Amino acid sequence: MTPMPTGRTAGQLADGWTNPLRDPRDKRLPRIAGPCGLVIFGVTGDLSRKKLMPAIYDLANRGLLPPGFALVGFARRDWAADDFGDVVLKAVREHARTPFRQEVWDKLAEGFRFVQGSFDDDHAFDQLARTLHDLDRVRGTGGNHAFYLSIPPSAFPVVCKQLARSGLSAQDGDQWRRVVIEKPFGHDLGSAIELNEIVNEVFPEDSVFRIDHYLGKETVQNVLALRFANQLFEPIWNSHYVDHVQITMAEDIGLGGRAGYYDGIGAARDVIQNHLLQLLAFTAMEEPVSFSSDELRAEKIKVLNATRLVGPLEETTARGQYTGGWQGGEKVVGLKEEEGYDPESRTETFAAITVEVDTRRWAGVPFYLRTGKRLGRRVTEIAVIFKRAPHLPFDATMTEELGQNALVVRVQPDEGVTMRFGSKVPGSQMEVRDVTMDFGYGTAFTEASPEAYERLILDVLLGEPSLFPVNQEVERSWQILDPVLEAWAAREDGPDPYPAGSWGPDSANRMLARTGRTWRRP
Ligand code: BG6
Repeated sequence: MTPMPTGRTAGQLADGWTNPLRDPRDKRLPRIAGPCGLVIFGVTGDLSRKKLMPAIYDLANRGLLPPGFALVGFARRDWAADDFGDVVLKAVREHARTPFRQEVWDKLAEGFRFVQGSFDDDHAFDQLARTLHDLDRVRGTGGNHAFYLSIPPSAFPVVCKQLARSGLSAQDGDQWRRVVIEKPFGHDLGSAIELNEIVNEVFPEDSVFRIDHYLGKETVQNVLALRFANQLFEPIWNSHYVDHVQITMAEDIGLGGRAGYYDGIGAARDVIQNHLLQLLAFTAMEEPVSFSSDELRAEKIKVLNATRLVGPLEETTARGQYTGGWQGGEKVVGLKEEEGYDPESRTETFAAITVEVDTRRWAGVPFYLRTGKRLGRRVTEIAVIFKRAPHLPFDATMTEELGQNALVVRVQPDEGVTMRFGSKVPGSQMEVRDVTMDFGYGTAFTEASPEAYERLILDVLLGEPSLFPVNQEVERSWQILDPVLEAWAAREDGPDPYPAGSWGPDSANRMLARTGRTWRRP
């Protein structure tokens, strides 16, 4: 079969027709995946139901999937093909972002298949291979298949081996085979290297798509637009003007129901190693020569290579564990009382670290990274805090309420950017106080932002790797974090308790107070 070109734009219709009203060279048009299918391992899991299935429907609804797209579920459950369809339908009804349209659903559901089996079952993988060949024939998927491993990393080796054994990982001619993996990519540098070796044995690095869903968020990509499409910020984006940077990812939810994954893992591995270090890389990197994936990743790697922990770690890091309390008018229990957790658990639910980026641009500027569960509210933001003006020609009593200028990228919720600066208070005196100026996605644009998984799944199908961290980034991130994890593990005391609904343990405040700074209250 002649393979269809991948990455058609919306101007080119699936059957080769060109829409005369839309110029396919227009890069603003949405990109549509070429013929292909997606296989999800771990299809019964939470991620699959809450994020992957709805995102696939949303992509279909936006017309971004090829007409013959196929979705294959692989799991142990003894489901008939119809049961699988029902599960996807329920997930779509509950979690899809875009409205339900029966005709889109009907077309999409024609491409659903389910293969039952366990990961060590050769027959099941042979059956999977037959199913994909059949799809190539009846749906025209063209031999192009992505395998989404939404499964614990301990199962990666067996699944990768099975894919190789059944011939499913082999790329033939113009056909492609890609593997999508989700964090955790190991639990330290050593295990990450092992895991990468296992995956790379079967799939070459350019066929491996590692999901860090933060990179799929519009607001995170907007950091690059803000920095590199404007003249305004670049001159002040350095140690001459920036005092420090605070990167916060706060969640109000607790960890009930996630003990299997979370206990023993903790906030630093779960969030700092990936999401927050990636946000730091976007904030601190130099301008890439172009937005090609190689150039973009090269700049990220450079900045991660220059990033180092600031010590002494007992003063410059903090870890905490939430205890019971009141949150949003509701009484909630502490981590140790959550179902499934070891009552003696030392797993941290709050983690904060201090790093610096040793480059000419950033030398001496601390980057504070913090994340936690059961905090005051759900908010993720990057706050660039500027130095104070060298001289204030005002009466000191007139500037008491003047803080430091700040530029805050509001990653979520209420996506946008806030600038904080001093302004004259109306009246007969020269009193100056902080004011803010806001850009909000909700008011500036009419179209709603796609979910991160929509963007990332589409990019996998298009073979567009820019938003997926490479091996080297993952390993370097562990190298940065490992000394903190080791220092914490070596201590006799566990994480500091903090009440649910607060902003973390006191040690987090002390960590900034030692240099006369305070955390922003987002
Ligand atoms: C995941 C973490 O990567 O991100 C979870 O494993 C966390 O612990 C989640 O809850 C938060 O994602 P978001 O997009 O809601 O900020």
